[in-house]
Amino acid sequence: MITDKILVIGAGGQIGLELIHALAADYGYENVVPADIRDVPGFKNFTSATFNALDAKALFETVTSHGITQIYHLAALLSATGEQQPELAWKLNMESLFHVLNLAKEGHIKKVYWPSSIAVFGPTTPRHLTPQYTVMEPSTIYGISKQAGERWCAWYHNKFNVDVRSLRYPGLIGWKTPPGGGTTDYAVHIFHEALKHKQYTCFLKSDTALPMMHMDDAIRATRMIMEAPASSVKIRGSYNVSAMSFTPAELANIITTLIPEFEISYAPDFRQAIADSWPASIDDTEARSHWGWKPSFDVKGLCQDMLKHLKPNY
Ligand code: SER
Repeated sequence: MITDKILVIGAGGQIGLELIHALAADYGYENVVPADIRDVPGFKNFTSATFNALDAKALFETVTSHGITQIYHLAALLSATGEQQPELAWKLNMESLFHVLNLAKEGHIKKVYWPSSIAVFGPTTPRHLTPQYTVMEPSTIYGISKQAGERWCAWYHNKFNVDVRSLRYPGLIGWKTPPGGGTTDYAVHIFHEALKHKQYTCFLKSDTALPMMHMDDAIRATRMIMEAPASSVKIRGSYNVSAMSFTPAELANIITTLIPEFEISYAPDFRQAIADSWPASIDDTEARSHWGWKPSFDVKGLCQDMLKHLKPNY
């Protein structure tokens, strides 16, 4: 049997550090190569690679020397940091994608995963149960890069038959890895602060509803779309995927039922405008019907799971 060998670029980030272990459980640690721009302690047990995702030569050398057949390309600047470094965000998010898609086009790798985001939507998009196909006028550089990237993925698929697959992640919430540079990050920080200080000051307003998902569900959705038969993956831009939607006030109320002393206050900053431009909830009919997506965590289950796993740390 020929086993796939998988390169995960940006594996030191919030998704990557969880994904590499999920992949290793199925493919074996020897067949998963985590890569990041710097050495990451979490890569022990793996043979890892260190290179800048913008360095096409280093990427090519890693792919050929390890015999890589699949790439999960997760390196990106997210919505909040992207607004502070717009040129770098555009360069990193776009050029690194081209490097990966070109490797697939030239036949060096067989399959590509690339994440998109709810940030592809904008203030003119219908906010509630945002459909797969709708108005898309993203207002952040991150969102613009993800929207453009989706079209490039579809183009490489249509033109060169590149097997590229993608999900529009909502805010991702997990206890194993810290988030970095996103607008939805409050929904992770709140659990740490609730346990540490019984108090959290939220950078979004109390009534800002956003789509969110437990990291376990995000990893499962990622694995599902990558394992699905190619014929089931009918959308080669990116799929809406949904699990839950809540506001900071709603999340705080549930946390209070589990930690009665917990208190939340609000100090909205520049991230409020980003959140206001995004959907409140997502319709993921296509993902459900094409390849069987179904989330397992609701918001209550998410809160219980986060607090249960984080409690021993504090
Ligand atoms: N979680 C991401 C962000 O907030 C959305 O893709 O930037």
